[in-house]
Amino acid sequence: MSDLSGRTTIVVGASRGVGRGIATAFAEAGAPVVAVSRTAVTFPEPSNGAGGIQAEVADAGEATVPASLLDRYEPQVVIVVAGAVPHMRPLQEQTWETFSVNWETDVRITFHWLREILLTPLRPGSRVIVVSSGAALGGSPLSGGYAGAKQTQRFITGYAQDEANRAGLDITFTTVLPKFSPTTGVGEPAVRAYAARSGRSVEEFLQSAGPLVSPESAGAALVELVQADAAAVAPAYVLNGAGLHKLP
Ligand SMILES: NC(=O)c1ccc[n+]([C@@H]2O[C@H](COP(=O)([O-])OP(=O)(O)OC[C@H]3O[C@@H](n4cnc5c(N)ncnc54)[C@H](OP(=O)(O)O)[C@@H]3O)[C@@H](O)[C@H]2O)c1
Repeated sequence: MSDLSGRTTIVVGASRGVGRGIATAFAEAGAPVVAVSRTAVTFPEPSNGAGGIQAEVADAGEATVPASLLDRYEPQVVIVVAGAVPHMRPLQEQTWETFSVNWETDVRITFHWLREILLTPLRPGSRVIVVSSGAALGGSPLSGGYAGAKQTQRFITGYAQDEANRAGLDITFTTVLPKFSPTTGVGEPAVRAYAARSGRSVEEFLQSAGPLVSPESAGAALVELVQADAAAVAPAYVLNGAGLHKLP
């Protein structure tokens, strides 16, 4: 996959934030990109004239959407980034509805897309990346069910890899667990909440958080991951501002 030209890439959740950075990076690397979101947005032409991004307005959590887009575009790369912004409150200030929002969005979207990728199936050699969260490793006490939902995305991705292997489909599934990206929809309120809880300013909190992820650095890291030889790809990586780090 080192040459992405002609490799149709669907980015699920690409209107803003990390997903937009990923869609832009794949287009600049030469891939024809299909950018899925519920909001209609426009994308600039890639600066080097390669690739290109076509926006598709759809609710990725609707059960019929993955089949329809996979049939229409026949992608070789699918990246599931879409997720809800969790309600940043301690446990006792959550309701069941706010606690479960990432299960109803992030987990639902991952379930529908990976199930359909196996059923279609994508062609041999295809690559699938699910964007989970570093919170899946250590918990996230101010965001309700977020961390558990992101860990479930990692489980689902592993289950999909097992099923693909059993069926001899030659599809590689990878989970990427980003650390804070403090300027985007999920990251910005999380950083504010954890800074307040630790009694520090956002700036002080971010200084102690290590190298930070940006939409651009996430895009560059995922392009590199898809361009790598599938045999060398690990099932899961933590992503911080210094790049991808294999998880055992
Ligand atoms: N930012 C961080 O610090 C951080 C850290 C770790 C993990 N993550 C994960 O990275 C992902 C992106 O985070 P972000 O901060 O970039 O979020 P964001 O800025 O809020 O962007 C979320 C994207 O998902 C799309 N989306 C949400 N629900 C959708 C649906 N039902 N159908 C189609 N598209 C949908 C949104 O588009 P529409 O609203 O237009 O549909 C938007 O493009 C999330 O899964 C998040 O959990 C983020």
